[in-house]
Amino acid sequence: MQQLQQLIQEAQPFYKNGHVATYIPALSEVDPKLLAVSLIDGNGHIFQEGDTQQFFTLQSISKVISFIFVCATYGTEHVLQYVDVEPTGDPFNSIIRLESHQPGKPFNPMINAGAITISSMLPGGTVDEKVHNLQSFIAKMVGVHCEVSDEVFTSEWETAYRNRAIAYYLKANGYLQGDVEVALEAYLKQCALLVDVQQLATIALVIANDGYHPLTKEQLFDAKIAKMAKALMLTCGMYNASGKFAAFVGLPAKSGVSGGILCLAMDAQIEELQGTIGIGIFGPAIDEVGNSVAGMKFLEQLSRQYQLSIF
Ligand code: DON
Repeated sequence: MQQLQQLIQEAQPFYKNGHVATYIPALSEVDPKLLAVSLIDGNGHIFQEGDTQQFFTLQSISKVISFIFVCATYGTEHVLQYVDVEPTGDPFNSIIRLESHQPGKPFNPMINAGAITISSMLPGGTVDEKVHNLQSFIAKMVGVHCEVSDEVFTSEWETAYRNRAIAYYLKANGYLQGDVEVALEAYLKQCALLVDVQQLATIALVIANDGYHPLTKEQLFDAKIAKMAKALMLTCGMYNASGKFAAFVGLPAKSGVSGGILCLAMDAQIEELQGTIGIGIFGPAIDEVGNSVAGMKFLEQLSRQYQLSIF
Protein backbone atom coordinates (compact mmCIF):
# COMPACT_ATOMS: atom_id res chain seq x y z
CA MET A 1 0.00 0.00 0.00
CA GLN A 2 2.93 2.27 -0.71
CA GLN A 3 0.93 4.46 -3.07
CA LEU A 4 -1.67 5.19 -0.40
CA GLN A 5 1.06 6.07 2.08
CA GLN A 6 2.53 8.45 -0.46
CA LEU A 7 -0.84 10.13 -1.05
CA ILE A 8 -1.17 10.76 2.68
CA GLN A 9 2.35 12.16 2.91
CA GLU A 10 1.64 14.49 0.00
CA ALA A 11 -1.68 15.67 1.45
CA GLN A 12 -0.45 16.32 5.01
CA PRO A 13 1.43 19.63 4.36
CA PHE A 14 -1.79 21.16 3.00
CA TYR A 15 -2.88 21.60 6.64
CA LYS A 16 -1.03 24.92 6.38
CA ASN A 17 -3.86 26.28 4.22
CA GLY A 18 -6.34 25.82 7.06
CA HIS A 19 -6.86 26.49 10.77
CA VAL A 20 -8.33 24.46 13.61
CA ALA A 21 -11.89 25.53 14.51
CA THR A 22 -11.77 28.28 17.11
CA TYR A 23 -15.47 28.99 17.60
CA ILE A 24 -15.64 25.91 19.83
CA PRO A 25 -12.91 26.69 22.40
CA ALA A 26 -12.08 23.01 23.12
CA LEU A 27 -11.34 22.31 19.44
CA SER A 28 -8.83 25.15 19.16
CA GLU A 29 -6.25 23.24 21.22
CA VAL A 30 -5.78 20.38 18.74
CA ASP A 31 -2.53 19.98 16.75
CA PRO A 32 -3.35 21.17 13.20
CA LYS A 33 -0.65 18.94 11.67
CA LEU A 34 -2.41 15.67 12.52
CA LEU A 35 -3.65 13.50 9.66
CA ALA A 36 -5.15 10.03 9.93
CA VAL A 37 -6.77 7.87 7.27
CA SER A 38 -8.59 4.55 7.45
CA LEU A 39 -10.06 2.56 4.56
CA ILE A 40 -12.06 -0.62 5.01
CA ASP A 41 -13.74 -2.93 2.51
CA GLY A 42 -16.59 -5.43 2.81
CA ASN A 43 -14.19 -8.33 3.38
CA GLY A 44 -12.73 -6.53 6.40
CA HIS A 45 -9.46 -5.56 4.68
CA ILE A 46 -8.22 -2.45 6.41
CA PHE A 47 -5.65 0.15 5.47
CA GLN A 48 -4.74 2.71 8.15
CA GLU A 49 -2.04 5.33 8.24
CA GLY A 50 -1.05 8.40 10.24
CA ASP A 51 -2.34 9.48 13.66
CA THR A 52 -4.98 6.75 13.75
CA GLN A 53 -5.01 6.47 17.56
CA GLN A 54 -6.48 9.98 17.81
CA PHE A 55 -10.09 10.38 18.91
CA PHE A 56 -12.05 13.38 17.68
CA THR A 57 -15.66 14.53 17.85
CA LEU A 58 -18.13 13.72 15.07
CA GLN A 59 -19.51 17.28 14.86
CA SER A 60 -21.51 17.60 11.66
CA ILE A 61 -20.75 14.04 10.57
CA SER A 62 -23.29 13.07 13.25
CA LYS A 63 -25.98 14.74 11.10
CA VAL A 64 -25.98 11.99 8.50
CA ILE A 65 -26.14 9.30 11.22
CA SER A 66 -28.98 10.94 13.18
CA PHE A 67 -30.91 11.43 9.92
CA ILE A 68 -30.56 7.74 9.08
CA PHE A 69 -31.54 6.70 12.61
CA VAL A 70 -34.64 8.92 12.73
CA CYS A 71 -35.69 7.68 9.26
CA ALA A 72 -35.14 4.08 10.36
CA THR A 73 -37.32 4.74 13.42
CA TYR A 74 -40.22 6.69 11.89
CA GLY A 75 -39.93 6.13 8.13
CA THR A 76 -38.68 8.64 5.56
CA GLU A 77 -42.14 9.91 4.63
CA HIS A 78 -42.79 11.10 8.16
CA VAL A 79 -39.31 12.65 8.52
CA LEU A 80 -39.55 14.52 5.22
CA GLN A 81 -42.55 16.43 6.54
CA TYR A 82 -40.14 18.22 8.86
CA VAL A 83 -37.02 18.58 6.72
CA ASP A 84 -36.46 18.82 2.99
CA VAL A 85 -33.65 17.32 0.86
CA GLU A 86 -32.55 20.37 -1.14
CA PRO A 87 -29.05 21.87 -1.05
CA THR A 88 -28.74 25.54 -0.08
CA GLY A 89 -25.21 26.64 -0.98
CA ASP A 90 -25.28 28.53 2.35
CA PRO A 91 -22.93 28.10 5.33
CA PHE A 92 -23.89 25.29 7.75
CA ASN A 93 -25.15 27.64 10.46
CA SER A 94 -27.06 29.98 8.17
CA ILE A 95 -30.43 31.32 9.29
CA ILE A 96 -31.41 33.37 6.26
CA ARG A 97 -33.64 30.89 4.43
CA LEU A 98 -35.73 30.04 7.46
CA GLU A 99 -37.51 33.34 7.00
CA SER A 100 -36.98 34.20 3.35
CA HIS A 101 -38.32 30.85 2.12
CA GLN A 102 -41.82 30.14 3.34
CA PRO A 103 -42.95 28.20 5.28
CA GLY A 104 -39.54 28.11 7.00
CA LYS A 105 -38.98 24.37 6.57
CA PRO A 106 -35.28 23.48 6.91
CA PHE A 107 -33.80 22.78 3.48
CA ASN A 108 -31.87 19.65 4.39
CA PRO A 109 -30.67 17.67 7.43
CA MET A 110 -26.98 18.48 6.80
CA ILE A 111 -27.28 22.16 7.75
CA ASN A 112 -27.81 23.05 11.40
CA ALA A 113 -31.49 24.01 11.00
CA GLY A 114 -32.30 20.58 9.56
CA ALA A 115 -30.01 18.70 11.93
CA ILE A 116 -31.45 20.34 15.07
CA THR A 117 -34.94 19.44 13.80
CA ILE A 118 -33.78 15.83 13.34
CA SER A 119 -32.24 15.79 16.84
CA SER A 120 -35.60 16.91 18.24
CA MET A 121 -37.04 13.75 16.63
CA LEU A 122 -34.47 11.31 18.07
CA PRO A 123 -36.44 8.61 19.91
CA GLY A 124 -36.55 9.22 23.67
CA GLY A 125 -38.17 11.75 25.99
CA THR A 126 -35.05 13.10 27.67
CA VAL A 127 -31.65 14.22 26.38
CA ASP A 128 -30.03 11.15 27.95
CA GLU A 129 -32.50 8.79 26.26
CA LYS A 130 -32.09 10.46 22.88
CA VAL A 131 -28.29 10.39 23.04
CA HIS A 132 -28.23 6.85 24.44
CA ASN A 133 -30.48 5.58 21.63
CA LEU A 134 -28.25 7.21 19.02
CA GLN A 135 -25.15 5.72 20.71
CA SER A 136 -26.79 2.27 20.59
CA PHE A 137 -27.55 2.71 16.89
CA ILE A 138 -23.92 3.68 16.18
CA ALA A 139 -22.75 0.74 18.32
CA LYS A 140 -24.49 -1.65 15.90
CA MET A 141 -22.06 -0.37 13.28
CA VAL A 142 -18.83 0.12 15.25
CA GLY A 143 -19.28 -2.41 18.06
CA VAL A 144 -18.93 0.02 21.01
CA HIS A 145 -20.83 2.93 22.59
CA CYS A 146 -18.98 6.11 21.58
CA GLU A 147 -18.52 8.48 24.51
CA VAL A 148 -19.66 12.10 24.58
CA SER A 149 -16.74 14.50 25.08
CA ASP A 150 -17.95 16.59 28.04
CA GLU A 151 -15.24 19.12 27.37
CA VAL A 152 -16.33 19.73 23.77
CA PHE A 153 -20.03 19.63 24.66
CA THR A 154 -19.67 22.13 27.53
CA SER A 155 -17.46 24.36 25.48
CA GLU A 156 -20.06 24.52 22.70
CA TRP A 157 -23.14 24.65 24.96
CA GLU A 158 -21.80 27.80 26.58
CA THR A 159 -21.37 29.57 23.25
CA ALA A 160 -24.33 28.15 21.27
CA TYR A 161 -26.08 31.49 20.71
CA ARG A 162 -26.57 31.00 16.99
CA ASN A 163 -27.76 27.39 17.25
CA ARG A 164 -30.12 28.44 20.06
CA ALA A 165 -31.54 31.18 17.81
CA ILE A 166 -32.03 28.66 14.98
CA ALA A 167 -33.70 26.18 17.34
CA TYR A 168 -36.19 28.72 18.72
CA TYR A 169 -36.97 29.88 15.21
CA LEU A 170 -37.67 26.28 14.17
CA LYS A 171 -39.95 25.88 17.18
CA ALA A 172 -41.84 29.05 16.30
CA ASN A 173 -42.48 27.65 12.81
CA GLY A 174 -43.63 24.27 14.13
CA TYR A 175 -40.75 22.13 12.83
CA LEU A 176 -38.79 21.46 16.01
CA GLN A 177 -40.53 18.77 18.10
CA GLY A 178 -40.84 18.95 21.90
CA ASP A 179 -38.70 21.11 24.14
CA VAL A 180 -36.19 23.43 22.43
CA GLU A 181 -33.45 23.10 25.05
CA VAL A 182 -33.74 19.29 25.00
CA ALA A 183 -33.35 19.24 21.21
CA LEU A 184 -30.39 21.62 21.35
CA GLU A 185 -28.62 19.67 24.09
CA ALA A 186 -29.18 16.38 22.23
CA TYR A 187 -27.84 17.98 19.03
CA LEU A 188 -24.69 19.32 20.70
CA LYS A 189 -24.09 16.01 22.50
CA GLN A 190 -24.37 14.04 19.25
CA CYS A 191 -21.85 16.49 17.74
CA ALA A 192 -19.54 15.78 20.71
CA LEU A 193 -19.50 11.96 20.25
CA LEU A 194 -15.91 10.71 20.08
CA VAL A 195 -14.73 8.41 17.30
CA ASP A 196 -11.51 7.34 15.61
CA VAL A 197 -10.92 7.00 11.87
CA GLN A 198 -11.54 3.27 11.79
CA GLN A 199 -14.96 3.71 13.39
CA LEU A 200 -15.74 6.45 10.87
CA ALA A 201 -14.68 4.18 8.00
CA THR A 202 -16.88 1.38 9.35
CA ILE A 203 -19.95 3.64 9.52
CA ALA A 204 -19.19 4.73 5.94
CA LEU A 205 -18.93 1.09 4.87
CA VAL A 206 -22.43 0.33 6.20
CA ILE A 207 -23.90 3.35 4.39
CA ALA A 208 -22.03 2.35 1.22
CA ASN A 209 -23.59 -1.13 1.50
CA ASP A 210 -27.11 0.32 1.65
CA GLY A 211 -27.54 -0.31 5.38
CA TYR A 212 -26.08 -3.84 5.35
CA HIS A 213 -23.12 -4.39 7.66
CA PRO A 214 -20.86 -6.76 5.70
CA LEU A 215 -18.78 -7.64 8.76
CA THR A 216 -21.64 -8.49 11.18
CA LYS A 217 -23.91 -9.61 8.30
CA GLU A 218 -26.86 -7.62 9.63
CA GLN A 219 -29.19 -5.29 7.72
CA LEU A 220 -29.23 -2.27 10.04
CA PHE A 221 -31.48 0.04 8.06
CA ASP A 222 -33.40 0.15 4.78
CA ALA A 223 -31.55 0.52 1.47
CA LYS A 224 -34.00 3.33 0.61
CA ILE A 225 -32.74 5.36 3.60
CA ALA A 226 -29.09 4.71 2.74
CA LYS A 227 -29.65 5.88 -0.84
CA MET A 228 -31.25 9.08 0.41
CA ALA A 229 -28.37 9.62 2.85
CA LYS A 230 -25.82 9.15 0.04
CA ALA A 231 -27.67 11.63 -2.18
CA LEU A 232 -27.71 14.14 0.69
CA MET A 233 -24.01 13.60 1.32
CA LEU A 234 -23.22 14.19 -2.33
CA THR A 235 -25.36 17.32 -2.66
CA CYS A 236 -25.02 18.85 0.83
CA GLY A 237 -22.38 16.88 2.77
CA MET A 238 -19.48 19.28 2.30
CA TYR A 239 -21.62 22.37 2.87
CA ASN A 240 -21.18 25.23 0.46
CA ALA A 241 -18.25 23.37 -1.10
CA SER A 242 -20.42 20.35 -2.02
CA GLY A 243 -20.51 21.32 -5.71
CA LYS A 244 -16.72 21.57 -5.94
CA PHE A 245 -16.32 18.33 -4.01
CA ALA A 246 -18.70 16.56 -6.42
CA ALA A 247 -16.75 18.00 -9.36
CA PHE A 248 -13.23 17.21 -8.12
CA VAL A 249 -13.79 14.09 -5.99
CA GLY A 250 -17.21 12.79 -7.02
CA LEU A 251 -17.99 10.70 -3.93
CA PRO A 252 -20.64 10.96 -1.20
CA ALA A 253 -18.98 12.47 1.89
CA LYS A 254 -19.78 14.29 5.12
CA SER A 255 -17.43 16.59 6.99
CA GLY A 256 -17.32 18.09 10.48
CA VAL A 257 -15.54 21.12 11.94
CA SER A 258 -13.36 18.88 14.11
CA GLY A 259 -11.64 17.92 10.82
CA GLY A 260 -13.30 14.53 10.31
CA ILE A 261 -14.57 13.36 6.93
CA LEU A 262 -16.70 10.27 6.33
CA CYS A 263 -16.54 9.23 2.69
CA LEU A 264 -17.42 6.14 0.70
CA ALA A 265 -16.69 4.56 -2.63
CA MET A 266 -18.82 2.00 -4.41
CA ASP A 267 -17.43 -0.62 -6.72
CA ALA A 268 -13.82 0.50 -6.28
CA GLN A 269 -10.42 -1.11 -6.38
CA ILE A 270 -7.82 0.58 -4.18
CA GLU A 271 -4.79 -1.69 -3.92
CA GLU A 272 -5.99 -4.79 -1.99
CA LEU A 273 -9.31 -3.18 -1.07
CA GLN A 274 -12.22 -4.01 -3.34
CA GLY A 275 -15.90 -3.28 -3.89
CA THR A 276 -17.64 -0.95 -1.48
CA ILE A 277 -15.11 0.94 0.63
CA GLY A 278 -15.65 3.05 3.75
CA ILE A 279 -13.20 5.90 4.32
CA GLY A 280 -12.56 7.75 7.59
CA ILE A 281 -10.28 10.80 7.75
CA PHE A 282 -9.12 13.13 10.49
CA GLY A 283 -7.19 16.31 9.68
CA PRO A 284 -8.17 19.10 12.10
CA ALA A 285 -7.03 22.12 10.05
CA ILE A 286 -10.18 23.23 8.20
CA ASP A 287 -10.89 25.80 5.51
CA GLU A 288 -13.32 28.74 5.77
CA VAL A 289 -16.25 26.49 4.82
CA GLY A 290 -15.48 23.96 7.57
CA ASN A 291 -13.84 21.10 5.64
CA SER A 292 -10.48 19.45 6.48
CA VAL A 293 -7.94 20.85 4.00
CA ALA A 294 -5.50 17.93 4.07
CA GLY A 295 -8.42 15.48 4.13
CA MET A 296 -9.96 17.01 1.01
CA LYS A 297 -6.59 17.03 -0.76
CA PHE A 298 -6.12 13.34 0.07
CA LEU A 299 -9.59 12.47 -1.26
CA GLU A 300 -9.05 14.49 -4.43
CA GLN A 301 -5.82 12.63 -5.19
CA LEU A 302 -7.25 9.26 -4.15
CA SER A 303 -10.27 9.72 -6.42
CA ARG A 304 -8.08 10.79 -9.33
CA GLN A 305 -5.54 7.99 -8.92
CA TYR A 306 -8.09 5.18 -8.55
CA GLN A 307 -10.84 6.69 -10.74
CA LEU A 308 -13.38 6.67 -7.98
CA SER A 309 -15.69 9.48 -9.09
CA ILE A 310 -19.23 8.19 -9.59
CA PHE A 311 -19.59 10.46 -12.63
O1 DON B 1 -23.42 23.25 15.15
C1 DON B 1 -22.21 23.41 15.23
O2 DON B 1 -21.73 24.51 15.18
C2 DON B 1 -21.24 22.24 15.36
N1 DON B 1 -21.39 21.54 16.55
C3 DON B 1 -21.25 21.32 14.21
C4 DON B 1 -20.81 22.04 13.03
C5 DON B 1 -20.03 21.35 12.02
O3 DON B 1 -19.31 20.39 12.20
C6 DON B 1 -20.13 22.03 10.73
N2 DON B 1 -19.05 21.69 9.88
N3 DON B 1 -18.46 21.58 9.05
